[in-house]
Amino acid sequence: MANKRNIIVGQSGGPTAVINSSLAGVYKTAKERGFHKVYGMLHGVQGLLDEQYVDLSTQIHSDMDIELLKRTPSAFLGSCRYKLPEIHENPEVYEKIFSILDKLDIEAFIYIGGNDSMDTIKKLSDYAVVKGLPQKFLGVPKTIDNDLAMTDHTPGFGSAAKYIAASTKEIIRDALGMSYKKVNITVLEIMGRNAGWLTGATALAKTEECEGPDLIYLPEVTFDLDQFRAKVKALLEVKQNIVIAVSEGIKVADGRYVCELASNSDYVDAFGHKQLQGTALYLANLLSSELGCKARAVEFSILQRSASHMASRTDIDEAFMVGGAAVKAVDEGDTGKMVIITRKSEDPYVSTADIYDIHRIANIEHTVPRIWVNQEGDYVTEEFIDYVRPLIQGDYAPFIVNGLPQHLVLDLNRK
Ligand code: F6P
Repeated sequence: MANKRNIIVGQSGGPTAVINSSLAGVYKTAKERGFHKVYGMLHGVQGLLDEQYVDLSTQIHSDMDIELLKRTPSAFLGSCRYKLPEIHENPEVYEKIFSILDKLDIEAFIYIGGNDSMDTIKKLSDYAVVKGLPQKFLGVPKTIDNDLAMTDHTPGFGSAAKYIAASTKEIIRDALGMSYKKVNITVLEIMGRNAGWLTGATALAKTEECEGPDLIYLPEVTFDLDQFRAKVKALLEVKQNIVIAVSEGIKVADGRYVCELASNSDYVDAFGHKQLQGTALYLANLLSSELGCKARAVEFSILQRSASHMASRTDIDEAFMVGGAAVKAVDEGDTGKMVIITRKSEDPYVSTADIYDIHRIANIEHTVPRIWVNQEGDYVTEEFIDYVRPLIQGDYAPFIVNGLPQHLVLDLNRK
């Protein structure tokens, strides 16, 4: 075991604009700490089970490649949404994974992901403990949804929040310019499943020269269609241009997602998550037909998690930091943990990376506290805005080639 100095790293779940900055942090720190090989799983644990992996030294040759990787959206190694079975349900899956880890002389397994991915870290580290196996398992937080427990926030959230707030400002400008003597309603749909952190971030569009969205609906508060109609009608008494932000995951009182009212898709992924899409379109169509006015739906969709051209510097730096912290932790003997971000001070904003027991994190959804939503349930509070603001600060200029951002792309023929 003493000479097993190899690490394997994987990326899992929905990507973010900065997930590759964490990968860069893992790679650079592993090299600095004297790990021999750093393998990357292709498409996470699902690809690993098919023995799909790459020696990352064939992909990252220089500090310039590290810098490019930090600015590259999507999962460089490929991602997956794969649910590990319970150990008693299918021990063969575990035996297969550990036999591959043995074959590659893996000392530590690092997984960059969200809630579902932390479930993988929990199960694999539990298995290793029960069987007395030497490999260590560490989670690196990642998700635009910002719904992981114990960490102040998750890498990926700040950049998505920045993109959403900036785009909301731009949409409001466009809509205002087009609302002379006519009503103009725009409904924005934002990701986050059952957590409204990103939808709330549209409130950051409220600045000196921009009034921000008029209404914000988070999944943490039951959505009432009648109240919604009444609110919009009341607003139309005083203004022509209305911008409304809704989470893809808002639900009505009987528990159905609003997007299910239009019932356009029954697809569920391996974790049983429904594909949430069409909330804004449903509401825009409803308002347009009931009020006889123009109403447009804007679905940010995957743009919000891939807009690395306007990622937040704070976010890119923290993503890199947590990747490095995971390597340090396994090197010092930790396993069954996830790196968390601790907010040390607000002004100046300072954060550190710590580690926390995965059993207190996996499968727990950290949603927006009700006290950070106003009484009517249609806007976020100043405390919410103060919490998000430091996370969208700074930028990381993309490397522009022929007018477009350049990315680092996996090339399995590269040596
Ligand atoms: O995992 C984060 C997330 O971006 C959620 O906010 C969203 O509901 C989901 O991914 C969408 O995933 P997919 O691209 O697999 O449909």
